[in-house]
Amino acid sequence: MPIIKDPHLFNEQSLFVDLEGVLDCRLYLKIEGFNFAGSIKLKPAREMVERAEREGLIGPGSILVESSSGNLGVALSMIAASKGYRFVCVIDPRCNPATRQLMESLGAQVDLVTEPDPVDGFLGARLNHVQDLCASDERYIWLNQYTNPGNWGAHYRWTAPGISNQFPELDVLFVGAGTTGTLMGCARYFREHRPDVRIVAVDAAGSVSFGGQPAVRLIPGLGMSVRPPQLDESLIDDVVMVEELDTVRACHRLAAAGFMLGGSTGTVVHGAMSWLTDHGAQDLTAVAISPDMGRPYLDTIYNPDWVHDHFGAAALASAGLTGAPDRRSDPVPEPQHPAPVPVADYVGTAALGNFLK
Ligand SMILES: Cc1ncc(COP(=O)(O)O)c(C=O)c1O
Repeated sequence: MPIIKDPHLFNEQSLFVDLEGVLDCRLYLKIEGFNFAGSIKLKPAREMVERAEREGLIGPGSILVESSSGNLGVALSMIAASKGYRFVCVIDPRCNPATRQLMESLGAQVDLVTEPDPVDGFLGARLNHVQDLCASDERYIWLNQYTNPGNWGAHYRWTAPGISNQFPELDVLFVGAGTTGTLMGCARYFREHRPDVRIVAVDAAGSVSFGGQPAVRLIPGLGMSVRPPQLDESLIDDVVMVEELDTVRACHRLAAAGFMLGGSTGTVVHGAMSWLTDHGAQDLTAVAISPDMGRPYLDTIYNPDWVHDHFGAAALASAGLTGAPDRRSDPVPEPQHPAPVPVADYVGTAALGNFLK
């Protein structure tokens, strides 16, 4: 076992789950949630901070700032705590209370924007706040995961080689698309080193990344309301869009076998299963990437009331939540958290696109 002095130095990167016994198809899942930040975002967080250090952009006294309501914010909070930087994470009301508390417990300052920008929604409001901070004091450094090459570079350096080494016979890789850092890092690596491997992007229905119509999305991680600046579609072979109900069903199917994984894992697993079925490709060697674990989703995907409220009674049964209707007749305690609000800003505008360049 490794002995470490800094939390970001431990990251289990060689764990794969063989899902053949759980699903009706051959699929290996690369597990990325076993580290102190709890997600794949540890890699881009570390890469972006260490590049900025090497380039002399940050040093003692710097204040890191980023807009994130989730995994990247937690990872940067952890790294900033370890390296002695101040970190300001700009969030909006969609950040769940446990994630906010996690960042604050790690010493981060959390700035909550409460009003959406009239044109660009909450993402626009968060980016406005980041820019105001940077304009107010030169010690603020915005890492900007949307455009920072360290985002995709981390996956080119670590994620893709880890998969390639483990699966010399790999045929197809399924990667979820949020900022597209993971997707672009893996796609570039495989294009350069093993161009025979097919790269399939998996996105949430309602995301505009691949030209779809914007719609409300509830599950964080995947999908964008503006086209991701890092996305180069020429590097990918195919795209699968997944409805959120299918994400929920896939998560519960995995949990029923003891694998409690995050929402975007359900999306990617469902997307991979449909693609493999549609292409009659059951004999291919296929890998999908699981970005985080299931615990942060106990109040949403794994909460029968939440599933019922957002997807209806039929969804409970189809997600395998038998017994949940009985539980619903028990007295329900007052909610501890604000009601979940959609993750996406509905429209991506040119104005917002300018922020992300
Ligand atoms: C749970 C989860 N899944 C998937 C992603 C998407 O990764 P990327 O931004 O590299 O596209 C994220 C990004 O924050 C995430 O938090």
